Amino acid sequence: MKIVHTPEEMTIWSNAMRREGKRISLVPTMGCLHAGHLSLIKKAKDLSELVIVSIFVNPMQFGPGEDLDAYPRQFEIDCGLAEQQGADIIFSPAPEKMYDDTFQTSISVGRLSRGLCGADRPGHFEGVATVVTKLFNITSPHVAVFGEKDFQQLAIIRQLVKDLNIPVEIIAGPIVREADGLAMSSRNKYLEGNDRQIALCLSQAIAEARKLIAGSTEPVLVSSVLTVVKSIVADAGAVLEYAEIIDKVTLATEEYVSAESVLAVAAKIGGRVRLIDNSILI
Ligand code: PAJ
Repeated sequence: MKIVHTPEEMTIWSNAMRREGKRISLVPTMGCLHAGHLSLIKKAKDLSELVIVSIFVNPMQFGPGEDLDAYPRQFEIDCGLAEQQGADIIFSPAPEKMYDDTFQTSISVGRLSRGLCGADRPGHFEGVATVVTKLFNITSPHVAVFGEKDFQQLAIIRQLVKDLNIPVEIIAGPIVREADGLAMSSRNKYLEGNDRQIALCLSQAIAEARKLIAGSTEPVLVSSVLTVVKSIVADAGAVLEYAEIIDKVTLATEEYVSAESVLAVAAKIGGRVRLIDNSILI
């Protein structure tokens, strides 16, 4: 497996492979790879001959006071894990190779970026949309694979690709969970002591919501489901940032639960670890 650290070298490799007629996929990550990331790399390998895994902790998507410096990094381990899943090349640029002193462009996907995580993390999705566009331009993939774990990010990237006519097919992979239901996340590493147990309230609240809806023969009011979700999170001792039921494509709020509905939850555990989870409801 090859490792490259500069955009120039990465582009030369991709162009050469494209000239040979190879189908290339990209799995963008910020590293600290877990089984969720690895499932995306495996999916990418099934979809194409060559898989690029980018490992880049993108400063542009972290707000002031967020965990940019503390974000877990384990480059050597990540390279080994990615290689085992069939990655052909790791692209891991230094921040200054992606953003030099003159950098001044930002891509903003309007309405989709405003609610949910966008409301709690101003500027976050501009950082994501900008870096993903750069990664697409540097690596020229035919396919890019993203996780449903970050479902607002996925919706934004689909919109970005459509709006800007970027010739990349976006494929989604399902959320990979721990045995007890906790959605895998690089930030789970921050959970200490009892916080690991408290963090289960997100997946438990989603499971309860699904049960409630499955057990009802009448149309279910979104507000009644959210009341249950909010009380489960509060009772566990987590601080809810949002719980919303929205259309999975437009992210618009709904009055009644439908087959298009997604329940999305974000909460702070132990006062500092921000976790997200989501699920379709029917
Ligand atoms: P990161 O959080 O490292 O996630 C990389 C990819 O892995 C994303 O597409 C994310 O949705 C997916 N992922 C994370 N946890 C998952 C899980 N439990 N199951 C399935 N997929 C999971 O998301 C980012 O990085 C960044 O914003 C990035 C897109 C790389 C831009 O910087």
